[in-house]
Order: sequence, then C-alpha cells, then structure tokens
Amino acid sequence: MKFLKLLVLLFALPMAAQQGGMWIPSLLKGMNEKEMKSLGMKMSASDIYDVNKSSLKDAVPQFNGGCTSEVISSKGLLLTNHHCGFGEIQSHSTVEHDYLTNGFWAMNQAEELPNPGLEVTFIVKIEDVSAKVLDGTTSLTSEAEKQKKIASNIASLTNTLPKEAWQENRIRTFYEGNQYILFVIESYKDVRLVGAPPSSIGKFGSDTDNWVWPRHTGDFSLFRIYADKNNRPAEYSKDNVPYTPKHFFPVSLKGIEEDDFTLVFGYPGRTTEYLPSIAVEQIVNSLNPAKIEVRDRALKVADGFMRKDNAIKIQYASKYASIANYWKKWIGETQGLKKSNAIEVKQKFEKNFLDQVQKAHKEEEYGQLFEDFQKNYTEIAPYALSRDYFMEVVLRNTELLSIGYKLFQLEQVYNSKGEQSFTDRKNNTLENLKETYKDFNKNVDEKVFEQLIELYATKSPQQFLPEQILKKDYKKMTAEIYSQSDLTSYKGMESLLTGNPKAVIAKLNKDKGYQLVKVLAEAYLKNVNPKYDEINLKISALQRTYMKGILELSPKDARIFPDANSTLRVTYGKVKGYEPADAVSYGYGTYLDGVMEKYIPGDYEFDVPQKLIDLYNTKDYGPYDMKGKMPVCFIGTNHTTGGNSGSPAIDAKGNLIGLNFDRVWEGTMSDIYYDPAICRNIMVDIRYVLFIIDKYAGAKHLVDEMKIVK
Ligand code: ARG
Ligand code: ASP
Repeated sequence: MKFLKLLVLLFALPMAAQQGGMWIPSLLKGMNEKEMKSLGMKMSASDIYDVNKSSLKDAVPQFNGGCTSEVISSKGLLLTNHHCGFGEIQSHSTVEHDYLTNGFWAMNQAEELPNPGLEVTFIVKIEDVSAKVLDGTTSLTSEAEKQKKIASNIASLTNTLPKEAWQENRIRTFYEGNQYILFVIESYKDVRLVGAPPSSIGKFGSDTDNWVWPRHTGDFSLFRIYADKNNRPAEYSKDNVPYTPKHFFPVSLKGIEEDDFTLVFGYPGRTTEYLPSIAVEQIVNSLNPAKIEVRDRALKVADGFMRKDNAIKIQYASKYASIANYWKKWIGETQGLKKSNAIEVKQKFEKNFLDQVQKAHKEEEYGQLFEDFQKNYTEIAPYALSRDYFMEVVLRNTELLSIGYKLFQLEQVYNSKGEQSFTDRKNNTLENLKETYKDFNKNVDEKVFEQLIELYATKSPQQFLPEQILKKDYKKMTAEIYSQSDLTSYKGMESLLTGNPKAVIAKLNKDKGYQLVKVLAEAYLKNVNPKYDEINLKISALQRTYMKGILELSPKDARIFPDANSTLRVTYGKVKGYEPADAVSYGYGTYLDGVMEKYIPGDYEFDVPQKLIDLYNTKDYGPYDMKGKMPVCFIGTNHTTGGNSGSPAIDAKGNLIGLNFDRVWEGTMSDIYYDPAICRNIMVDIRYVLFIIDKYAGAKHLVDEMKIVK
C-alpha cells in the first residue's frame, strides 16, 4: 500500500496548530510526538505506548465495551464515570438500599460488590496487519466478494496470529477499509463496585446540564479489578485477589491552569468526520429530526411516571438517562451543524478535492465520486429513514416490541436451525429477560407504545409499512394488546415459552403482541433491510475510495486522523475556555461555589446533599483546595466522543489531573465536523474526586492507596 507509506511521510512533517484528531497510540512517534512536545508535553511517545515496557496504555482498560476507565493504585483500583457505572450502581439498589440516591462506599475489600457480566479490557499489543487482511483481494472486482474475502481473512488471522491462551485477537479497520490493525487484548471479568457518590453529586444537573458548560458534576465511580492467583483474568470467585497492574496513574494535586497541556487516552466509539456534504444534509434535515421526535415522546411519558413514583424512578433511571442522552445530543448536533455551516464547509472541501484530483490527473479514480455519492444517498434516503424509525420505535424505545423482536428471532432460529438450537436459545432468552422485566412497568410501556406506534404508522415512509398498522385506531389497538398479550410480564413470558418447540411457536403466534411484532419485523426485513444493505455497501465502497483520495491528495500538513472505531486513541490539546457567540465567553474551570449557585433544595436535578453544603460552608477542603476554593470541572481542546467517558485526563508528565465525561453544547457536532474554536471536552477535576472520597464519604483509605503527586 504505497499511500500508507506516503501517509507516514506526510505526518513526519511539522504540523499546523492544534485542531483535534484521535490518534493511534502506536503511531504517535511519527505522527504526533513533535507537536505534542511543542504543546508542552514532557513525556516521549514511548512513555504513552510501548510493547516492551510498561507504559500509560497499561493503565487504560475499556470499561464494559462502551466507556473508558483507568487504574489508579497498585491494587487494581479503577476510576470511571458515575454514568458509566450507573447500571451497576442501580442494579445493587433497592428502595431500602438506594445507592443511586445515597451513594455507596465499601469500607474494606470484603464490602466491595461483584458485578456479573461486567468486564474491563486491556490492550496488550497493537500491530498493522493491512497487507495480511487485504491478501488476495486486489483481483476481486465485486464489492461483495471483496468484503467476503476480507471477512474470511480476518476470521482466520484472528485465530492464527500469536497470543497467549487467556488473550484475544481483534482486527479493526481504519480509514474506512484502507488500513487494518490488530489488537491483542485481555479481559478481566471480576470487577467489583468500590464507591459511588450520591446522584446529587455524581449526576448533579442531570439532563438539564448534560452536554452543557459550565458544569458542576462529580461524574465518577470507583471499582476494583480482581484476578486469579497468577494475576490473570478469571470469572468471579471469592478466592480472587486484587489485580496488580503493569502501570497505574499517579494522581496530581498540583492543579491546572489555562493553556496547560492535556492528553485524553481512551476508547472513542464512532465518528464520521469524512462524510460527503449530501450525507450531512440528510442527517440535519431528515434523520436527526425523526429520531429526536420519537425520543421526545418516549421521554415525556417516562418522565411523567418517574416524577410521581419513586419505584418507577429507580426502575427507569438508567434507561431514561441513556435515551435522553442521545436525544439531547442529536438536538445539539443538528443546531451546531447548521450554525457552523458544516454542509457548506464540506461542499467547499469537495470542490477543492476535485481541483486536486484534476491537478494530479486522477479523474479516472476519483472524478465521479460526488455524482456517485449523490445518486446513492438519494436512493438510500427513504430506506435510511425507515431504518431509523424501525430501530427507534421497535428495537429501542418500546419494550413490548423490542422483547417481541427477540422472540421473533427465536422463531427464525426454529425455522432455520431446528429444535435443539431453538431450545438452547429459548432458555438463554428467558434467563436474560429476567433482568429486563425487573425494570419493566406495564403502564409506562403501554403509554409509550400508544405514542410511538402512531408516530411510526404516520411518519415512517408509508410505502414500506404493513397495512395492518395503517390508518388504525391506535388507542384501541394499544388497549387490546396490553390487556391481552403475555409479553407484558415475566410470568406471561414464562408461560408462553414453556412446552415443546412446536407448542411454543403455536402459542407465540396466537399472542396479540407477538403478532404485531411479527408483522412489523417481516415488513421491515422484506421491504427495507435488503435494499438498505445493498445501497449501503456501495456507499461504503465510495467512502473508502474518497478516504483514499483524501489521504493521497491532501496538503502535506493536513491532519488526517482515522475515524473513531472503539479502539484505543490518544487526543491532546490544552486547557482552554471558549467564545461560542458574540459577547459570550466561558472560563475554563468551575468551582464548588457554582454548585451552590445552582442548588435548588428538593429538586431532582439540582439538590445538594447537606454534608456537602456543610463542607462548603466551613471550607473544609483538606489538601484538595486551590487557594481556598474547591475546583469541580474544567474543559480543554481534546477531541473526544462517546466512549471517551471515563477517560483519564493526563498532564504533561503522565499524572492524572481529571476524568473526561462530556462535551460542550456548541461542540456536540464534533463527531461529524470538528471546529477547534468551539469544540471542548469536559472533565471532572481530580481534586474534586479526591475531596468527595476523603472529606465527603470518609473513605480516606482509598486515597491512601493512591500515589499522590504534590
Ligand atoms: N453526555 C455524556 C455522554 O454522552 C454524559 C451522559 C450521562 N447521561 C445523562 N443522561 N446525563 O455520555
Ligand atoms: N459522555 C460521553 C461518553 O459517555 C462522552 C462524549 O460523548 O463526549 O462517552
């Protein structure tokens, strides 16, 4: 791959001012080290990532697939966000032991709470395997065949490339299929809850303040990794011992100032920074508004119930937060894309790209790209919209339908794989559903259903919908299903799923709820899914070619980073305020004074625990203050996205100074268009974390475990 070499050359050259990017840790030396040092970094690239000696990467595991965490003691103490540990904190909570409301602190290791199913994953090694993955694909002309060959190469390489017995190989694509990288990983499966502040600290400001600066949230929780006697991964056992890490972060009490170097190390999930303008246009004008409207309705219903009933509030807390989170993000993203004229910016970029194509005489390879994008995006539009409606209404926001869909898949297993597979899967499904129904309330779901089924039937492209849901009395339909279907309780579910396979299938097909799911699913799978996949495959191929062109033809100082793909990345920048609008200017840090300014006694988002008020009034901050004030959060120019939550914010020397958890409102469009002037990430100041652990919770033994740098 000639251009990849070119790429490395490209990045060896001095680069323009800081403007984001999520970089591959093993390639920092060539691509970024110089710039990082010019921004104030005092470490070398190999302090951050090295295969042969311990480095920062050894202290940064992915947390349960979706967040990041960091090891902060020699005994496997692990720090992540409150919202990342939220599911675990919730699952240990009951109305009597309400850890969400009151917090939880293990005062010794015996009190730490196990979490079946929770795991953290370390990266052992990163290696470019592009040539091996693409072996035998150059001669293939059909895109489908090419992808098939790539998939089979990946499967066999994953099995055959060297690794230890307890490790796993994972291969991921970078630059839209232009590069492939192997990650050797290790997953620890015994991870116990150690501490969590009350939600009035860990989730202070809740959904009102979510995605917003200035922020005053102590968004952290503590866990501990346990290993077997050989320090290797093991399932939970009372005989397991605290994990001894290869590296853990020293914690700095020195504090931060504007313009200080910062580095955020973590697992950003997904960005799409190189979409053509027409794709952005569809997101802004069609897809985001549709998804926002669905969630708008679902959230209003849940909110109504949660405010009136504390048991429902606990049951729905986690679900509500996760639905609200992206609902709000899409609103901010849409506004930001409009305000920053992202579509025009992309159009200009495209025009410029075509000029470069001409100059380089590459018309044959790249000259048609934008016409092809135009054609395929136009064609995919109604399918993409239907798909989003189906996912939001059926798979995500109405539980009767999403549970029903699992049963529908079960029936498909019966049809395609026979009785044994069916029975295995059925038992599995039943087991998993136990958890689901613990947090299910029939009345809430019924109201959500009533709202969403009507929306689906009237707003999703009509030509693909089954006639059974068109022009109906949706109130009546809802009442009928929720009074008759067995899907509305675990008991009903159990009775549906007992008996021999034939009997179960027969019972299912008599259930009113199931009947509807089946009609919806079959219509979707027949009318939408195949065509969507077909066009999407073409779009992916175009996107790969476009990316290749961008890499080849961009000016030498362009900073072309690969889109996020849930792999370990480094992003860096400075602590910095911003000016999002005329006469509006934000400072870089907040203090406990701001918590008190926002305090609304008894409010579900802005209440403050009495103990914290007392500590504030007596200024009892221990060694964690800054000139008599208690720092809470700060912002920086690090380019982050979903998945970076819980990521360590690291100073120039590799000490922990904060914990990433969010982005600012004006910059939520950074997944699609990163504007360095207004995109900022939000971090909890580590001094606030220590203050809460020590002075608020009285869990000083945890601070004593850490290595404090003064
Ligand atoms: N917005 C942050 C992130 O995307 C924090 C989310 C916490 N959830 C919430 N609904 N407040 O994950
Ligand atoms: N809050 C996000 C997370 O959970 C981070 C972000 O989107 O900025 O990963």
